[in-house]
Amino acid sequence: MTHNTSRGNADWWRESVVYQIYVPSFADADGDGMGDLRGVTDRLGHVAELGADAVWLTPFYRSPWADGGYDVSDYRDVDPRHGTLDDFRELLDRAHALGLRVVVDIVPNHCSSEHPWFAEALASPPGSPARDRFVFRDGRGPDGGEPPSDWQSKFGGPAWTRVPDGQWYMHIFAAEQPDLNWENPEVLAEFESILRFWLDLGVDGFRVDVAHGMRKDLTPPLRDTRGSDSAPLNAPPEGHDHPFWDRDEVHDIHRAWRRVLDEYDPPRIAVAEAGVSEARLPLYTRPDELHQAFNFPYLRCPWNAAALRRVVDASLDGARSVGALPTWVLSNHDVVRHLSRYALPEGADTVAWLMSDGREPAADEELGRRRARAAALLTLALPGTTYLYQGEELGLPEVADLPREALRDPMWERTGRARKGRDGCRVPIPWERSGPSYGFGPGGSWLPQPEGWGEYSVEAQTGRPDSFLELYRAALKIRRSFTGDEGFAWLPSREGELAFRKGALECRVNLSGAPLPLPPSAEPLLASGECGGGPAGGVLPPDTAVWLESRPR
Ligand code: GLC
Repeated sequence: MTHNTSRGNADWWRESVVYQIYVPSFADADGDGMGDLRGVTDRLGHVAELGADAVWLTPFYRSPWADGGYDVSDYRDVDPRHGTLDDFRELLDRAHALGLRVVVDIVPNHCSSEHPWFAEALASPPGSPARDRFVFRDGRGPDGGEPPSDWQSKFGGPAWTRVPDGQWYMHIFAAEQPDLNWENPEVLAEFESILRFWLDLGVDGFRVDVAHGMRKDLTPPLRDTRGSDSAPLNAPPEGHDHPFWDRDEVHDIHRAWRRVLDEYDPPRIAVAEAGVSEARLPLYTRPDELHQAFNFPYLRCPWNAAALRRVVDASLDGARSVGALPTWVLSNHDVVRHLSRYALPEGADTVAWLMSDGREPAADEELGRRRARAAALLTLALPGTTYLYQGEELGLPEVADLPREALRDPMWERTGRARKGRDGCRVPIPWERSGPSYGFGPGGSWLPQPEGWGEYSVEAQTGRPDSFLELYRAALKIRRSFTGDEGFAWLPSREGELAFRKGALECRVNLSGAPLPLPPSAEPLLASGECGGGPAGGVLPPDTAVWLESRPR
């Protein structure tokens, strides 16, 4: 199936559905248990049939895999575990033939400690140009044995590691991910060339990893943050003047990148991964900067009508203040899958929940399912672009009880095994009811799939009208006829209800805990659950959403 995403439409990204493919866990063509690009190519039909406009591929570049591929040792090649550059070219051709755009991840904040630049830095003396591509500093204390500042790694422990000659280098993430020094013109030039490499191959855009962390305040003496920084990966920094998060200087880099993207015809796009405050997020999508930024405030928002309404308003206002439209996202490869989050009591600590293997507090999976289905209709009705994470269209829950010896996230070891990390949302997805890895590939799977995983498979859900998959397929199809943020307006609603229209599409979500009446004679276009009713009008059950054709009342 192809649809109207002709490459001539330069504005395709404004209101689209982008499907995130976590490459290691999407499909494995060669049977080694690890997802690969040929696997993606073979399964792209699923994404097209779902009705998405684009895919975002997480890193598949050469990498020693200290952080699932977000530690890149060669930015211009494909890691052998995922295939070859030719496989990538084929993937691109197939995607474009299906009418799908391809957005690739770019990881500019840090590279791998096995990148040739870092090897050169280690082999060069303090103060050398090779070290200046990174952030090397002398330590504190009489013999320099203390880290240069108190900065903490996002994955636990200090953000500094000492090298044999006594200097320290900075890494916001794992020690195998040294931060690059973006004040160094060589770094800027190298990344511009990397962007062009992929653009010349034909990619349609980039997802910019850690777009808010690329510049640091390195004025001596380095400022301590006096915080543990154990906040979730994409939570905004505390305060407005953090030495390495959300610094104003990052925008100079984004502007330079935008100029490169605009040189192409049609212009290519970029989406920022920026864990910053609601107020600062719009700065990333000013007209001469990146096109979009992930809406993490929406992702983090609890299942609560007042809170959601506030975030939706803030997102719309913020985006409009810079002439943009917001993005909407509920899950990705870094967070507990939203179905499981919604199955837990509000405010539950998901770190502790994972450490209890999903036992404490107990998850009400049926409730999570209902809410996740309703959340899909809510999200897909909002004006702007929706990012879907592979498997959410299958209603996959978090795999909270992965055996400890199977865990691969560096967070697990770096926190002294106090945090299990993100593997539970990265379990390879099921395509078929049975088979060695439920159709993921002809072999096994790099993370164990739970028993019964096949019941979530594409095969098991296809053609079942009440399935998650068919709900998503129907929603994406209907959504196509209701684009444009013209006329987004909240409608009068009851306590605990969200009701709005976008053009002629009316969306109502019941978060009140009790059934609510639907407008009389309303004809649902689509509902996330059974809506009872009779001649007097329908009923919207709790944790259910409905789409109606809006008519003037
Ligand atoms: C981003 C990625 C995450 C990765 C981190 C470091 O937050 O989404 O998976 O671990 O950056 O690159």
